[in-house]
Amino acid sequence: MKHIDIAEIFKNSSLINTTVTVCGWIRTARDSKNMAFLEINDGTSLKHLQVVIDKASEINVANLKSGCSVKVEGILVPAAVNTGSVEINATQITLLGDCPGDYPLQKKKSTLEFLRTLPELRLRTNTFNAVFRVRSVVSSAIHNFFQSRNFVYINTPLITGSDCEGAGEMFRVTTNGYDHPYHSEEEYYANDFFGKKAGLSVSGQLEGEVAAMAMGKIYTFGPTFRAENSNTPRHLAEFWHVEPEVAFAELPDVIELAEDMVKYIVNTVFEKCPTELDFFERFFEKGLKEKLKNVAESKFEVLEYTRAIEILKSADVDFKYPVEWGCDLQTEHERYITEQVFKKPVFVTNYPKAIKSFYMKQNADGKTVAATDLLVPGVGEIIGGSEREANMDKLLKAMEDKGMSIDAYQDYLALRKYGTAPHGGFGLGLERIVMYITGMSNIRDVILYPRTVGNLR
Ligand code: 4AD
Repeated sequence: MKHIDIAEIFKNSSLINTTVTVCGWIRTARDSKNMAFLEINDGTSLKHLQVVIDKASEINVANLKSGCSVKVEGILVPAAVNTGSVEINATQITLLGDCPGDYPLQKKKSTLEFLRTLPELRLRTNTFNAVFRVRSVVSSAIHNFFQSRNFVYINTPLITGSDCEGAGEMFRVTTNGYDHPYHSEEEYYANDFFGKKAGLSVSGQLEGEVAAMAMGKIYTFGPTFRAENSNTPRHLAEFWHVEPEVAFAELPDVIELAEDMVKYIVNTVFEKCPTELDFFERFFEKGLKEKLKNVAESKFEVLEYTRAIEILKSADVDFKYPVEWGCDLQTEHERYITEQVFKKPVFVTNYPKAIKSFYMKQNADGKTVAATDLLVPGVGEIIGGSEREANMDKLLKAMEDKGMSIDAYQDYLALRKYGTAPHGGFGLGLERIVMYITGMSNIRDVILYPRTVGNLR
C-alpha cells in the first residue's frame, strides 16, 4: 500500500504543499459545524498527525471513530493553530478497518495496570509507543557498541543440559507424557527426547566462554529463562540477556567494558530518542534526563562488597533484612547505596564466594570472588559479571563444594585444560536497562508479552 510514514511527514519539509497519502489508526475524532478533525498515528512517530476534513466535501465523517484504521489522501499544509507543525487537508479518506464502540483505549488516560490486561492493544498508546521505540534503539546500540569493538555476535543454545548459575532454577524441557512412569529422576529422563535432563538456559555464559576462548571477544544477545518464584517488578521468567565474554581480561577490564557500554547506550538514546525522553521526563520520572546526563558524564563508583557492608551497617536506617558480612544484598540495600550514598551507578565488587556462582575467580583472600554487580538508582542491579576461574583445580574444588555434577560440565572444564587464560564477562538484562532509561517502574511494561509467575498470555 503506497503511503508515507507519519515520522517522515514531520521530518521532510519538502512535502509541504504537496499531495500525500498516509495510513494510521484514529486516536481522536472531533466534529464541529463545518469541519471535522482526526488525530492519526501509524506507530512511526510519537506525535499524531492532524487531518482536517471539510464537511462540505464527499468524505463521510460518521464512520471515522477512534480505533478505526484509515488511509488519508490530502494536501500537507502548515498547521493553522499548532505553529511549526503540519496537518493534512483531506481530499479522500478510505476506512480500512472499522472499530466498534467498545474500543478499550477510548479513555484519555488508562492506568498501566489496566493496559497490562490489553497486551494486544497497549502499543497503540503513547507510553508503549515510546517504550518500544527506546527498546529498539537500545538493542541496536548494544549491537553497534560490540560490533565496533571487534566483538563477534554468537548465538548460544536455549535448550541446555547444564545449569549455568548452579542454582537449579530452570524450566524443564521434556516430551514425556504426564503419565510417564518413573521411580527416579534418572529413569524419568532416560528415554526422554535427549536421553537426559534438559532445561531452558538461564544464561548463555558457559557456551559464551567456549566461543571467547577461541574468538577472543564475543557477545550473545537472546532470551534466557528463570524459573524462580520471584513475583517482583524487576523479574521476568523470560528476559533478553546481553552477555559479552572476553579472553585475556581481568575484573577491571570487565568493569571498564560494562561502564563504556552503559554510557554508549545512554548517549545513543539521547541522540536518537529526544522526543521519547521528553515524554518520559514529563509523565514518568521528573529529572530523568538529568539522571541520564549524569550517567553519561560521571565516572561510576567502584565499591568493595566489604566496604558496602560497612556503609550499610553504619547507616541510620532500619533495614528489613539485617546486614552482616556474608549476606546477599537485598533491593533495599542496593537502593540505599546507589540512591542515598552515591547517587549514581555503583559497581559492587569482590563478593563472598559462598553467595556467588561456582565459576567466579577465587580471590587470594580465600573468602571472596572477583565478581561485580552494577547497581543503579531506582532499578537496583542491571548487570552481573565476573572474572572467571581459569585454574582447573580451583574450579573443580568450587564445583565439588557446591555439590555439582562434574560430568555435565566437561566442555567447560576442557577450556581450563587446553590453553587456559584469564577471561571474564557480564550479563545485562535488556529490560532492566530499558526500565532505567525510560523511568518505567515495572518490568512488565517494557516487554511485549511479559512472562511472570502465573501469567502466560
Ligand atoms: O546476575 P545474573 O544472574 O548473571 C548471569 O546470568 C551471568 N551468567 C552473567 C554473565 O556473567 N555472563 O544475570 C545478569 C543480569 C542481571 O544483572 C539482570 O540485569 C538480568 O540479567 N536478570 C534478569 N532480568 C529480568 N528478570 C530476571 N529474572 C533476571 N535475572 C537476571
